[in-house]
Amino acid sequence: MAKEINTIGVLTSGGDAPGMNAAIRAVVREAIAKGKKVKGIKRGYAGLLQEEIIDMQAKDVSDIIQRGGTILQTARCMEFTTPEGQQRGAEICKKHGIGGVIVIGGDGSFKGAQKLAALGINTIGLPGTIDLDIACTEYTIGFDTAVNTAMEAIDKVRDTSTSHERCSIIEVMGRGAGYIALWCGIANGAEDILLPEKYDYDEQKLVNHIIENRKRGKQHHIIINAEGIGHSSSMAKRIEAATGVETRATILGHMQRGGNPTCKDRVYASTMGAMAVDLLCEGKSNRVVGYRHGDFEDFDIDEALAMEKGIPEYQYEISKNLSL
Ligand code: ADP
Ligand code: F6P
Repeated sequence: MAKEINTIGVLTSGGDAPGMNAAIRAVVREAIAKGKKVKGIKRGYAGLLQEEIIDMQAKDVSDIIQRGGTILQTARCMEFTTPEGQQRGAEICKKHGIGGVIVIGGDGSFKGAQKLAALGINTIGLPGTIDLDIACTEYTIGFDTAVNTAMEAIDKVRDTSTSHERCSIIEVMGRGAGYIALWCGIANGAEDILLPEKYDYDEQKLVNHIIENRKRGKQHHIIINAEGIGHSSSMAKRIEAATGVETRATILGHMQRGGNPTCKDRVYASTMGAMAVDLLCEGKSNRVVGYRHGDFEDFDIDEALAMEKGIPEYQYEISKNLSL
């Protein structure tokens, strides 16, 4: 018979993402509606090991759905990657009566959830990362807000780049993944999009492209460079020297992780948060919630972590034609 859970813990882990607060709010309120108690675990697995555990009522999550960041705060915690840390984490959950934990984070955080599940604490993972780099899902909490924030910033850089007839290299986040770069590249009409999954490091191609575009009368040349390739400032210096076109690098950085979540991030994060509670109430564990083919689904964490995800080939191919 499935274990009945009376108290649900919730934590955010890894990089924060806009929409995490909407997910926390949904967890708290859906759990209370289902007659469960909720405990907030502060600062991810680090806070779990420090026993930074607070009772959460419906009113504690009022006025947060619209806010970026995470009210529970987040951290990266090396100790929790060790068997001793995981064992202690499971014991602390038991001590506080927490039978199930909802972990909002990326793949790394899901590995922690997988370990807790193996130690008898039911766990559900929610995909929370601006990077969109979780294979089992087409949506991650925060991506929509982050790409919109980056897109608006790039529009601004483009204005000044055109006025000065410059080339601009704009670096966006994404760790090893190029999803933010691809989406911004298309949305901002970039002349070149450099993705870690695709880039062959042949800078001469970029140089030739900039010179050709200049001859054709283009007044700017926007290059979206993914963080996974990086080195935008040195790239700008080399490109300016090789093309004779003034070139500037802009690294958007952490501004991409902040700000009020978009409508999509609020609605999807709320749905996923409630669904995580419902899965725990059904006795499920070691699952992750994803969004695929127009619907919310749950997957076994082990299977989800083994899945692979690539860059959408068609969108990448057409992006080259769209900036002619
Ligand atoms: P993300 O969740 O965004 O992928 P990280 O990779 O930084 O971010 O992971 C967040 C945290 O998850 C880590 O700081 C660590 O506490 C925990 N974690 C990562 N990998 C493991 C692992 N193999 N086993 C247990 N916990 C892990
Ligand atoms: O995973 C989200 C993310 O913002 C990545 O895009 C980036 O590589 C990383 O986190 C930055 O982490 P930190 O906040 O530790 O600098």
